[in-house]
Amino acid sequence: MKFRTRAIHVGNEPDPSTGAVVNPIHLATTFVQPGAGTWGQYDYSRSGSPTRAAVERTLADLEGAAGALAFSSGMAATHCATMLLKSGDHVVAGCDIYGGTFRLLHKICNRSGVSVTLAPADDAAQVKAAIRPNTKMVWIESIGNPLMTIPDIPEIADIAHANGALLGVDSTFAPPAILRPLELGADIVMHSATKYLGGHSDCLAGVLAARDAVLHKELYFVQNATGAVLGGLECFLLQRGIKTLELRLREQCKSALQIAKWLEGHPRVKRVLYPGLPSHANHARATKYMGNQFGAMISFEINGDFAMTKQVCQATKLFGLAVSLGAVESLIEQPSSMSHASYDAQAKVAFGITDSLIRISIGLEDPQDLMADLDAAIGAMEGIR
Ligand SMILES: Cc1ncc(COP(=O)(O)O)c(C=O)c1O
Repeated sequence: MKFRTRAIHVGNEPDPSTGAVVNPIHLATTFVQPGAGTWGQYDYSRSGSPTRAAVERTLADLEGAAGALAFSSGMAATHCATMLLKSGDHVVAGCDIYGGTFRLLHKICNRSGVSVTLAPADDAAQVKAAIRPNTKMVWIESIGNPLMTIPDIPEIADIAHANGALLGVDSTFAPPAILRPLELGADIVMHSATKYLGGHSDCLAGVLAARDAVLHKELYFVQNATGAVLGGLECFLLQRGIKTLELRLREQCKSALQIAKWLEGHPRVKRVLYPGLPSHANHARATKYMGNQFGAMISFEINGDFAMTKQVCQATKLFGLAVSLGAVESLIEQPSSMSHASYDAQAKVAFGITDSLIRISIGLEDPQDLMADLDAAIGAMEGIR
């Protein structure tokens, strides 16, 4: 069956006891057992629940995974993956990663004796050069945040595996309707399901999916031991969001390409970073792995300083000034003061997070309305020439 069909039907079979076409929301935290010491399918909801199992089945199917796990947030999912590491292990991570992942690696994982080296994920040679004998994990984003870099996942998988390391890919910006990293050689795919998978800005959630059943079991062990599982109501919302993932993304990608092209021709815009534009450094690779759908996240720089950039972000009417992304409503933010505020000044310079950088998430509004909103916000800025 095709992706759209599976998104609706796998993990969504009619409830055998009632015939309901929508999965019931199980809120029970504990389950009566057949006998003392004889365990039924579910015992305690941290270890598993029918509602979570259903959405995990959908996710595993859509990612082509041996198994998937639903977490209480994207960071909880990433944290679980890093808990496979032990003291003395080393991680190579992409430079162009989410600020929260940067913080987790540098300020939490280091407490357990795990060290980190950053390397540009879109340059496999530099990733290779960063590998050490004790490198046990490579962690990259399939579309880098906020510069929209595209790594060569198969090449990086080979580099990681040659060193006996796992490759984890945060594919939040490129959900399985447009890219499936496990099919390209990654061992773990992670999502902030708060974004496209949920799709409606109403459900904080995270996902890990593993290519291999043994790895899935190890991750499950860590998840159950540490407890950051997704609750029943959020599992339901996530499952409902996934049903329209492919349709939403198709429209969002189409609008994003149109808006990116328009921005590129705007006299007050210095440069546009969108993998669907031929001007993007990784456009050929993006086309190779994603076909003609390049996601719906765009970064651009205006001809202005920090204050003017801030003003543009504050002047839009339709684009909400907010972090997060991937939902039906469009959002705008200034990475240097918002999503990537935890980077120190040196890291911002090194990773291209300039004061005039703006990141937008294209939602499902009419693209003409979105362009008019951006045009008014950019055009109204005093001092921008
Ligand atoms: C690329 C990426 N990874 C991970 C996360 C963290 O996810 P969450 O906010 O669901 O914990 C985010 C959140 O913005 C993100 O954009």
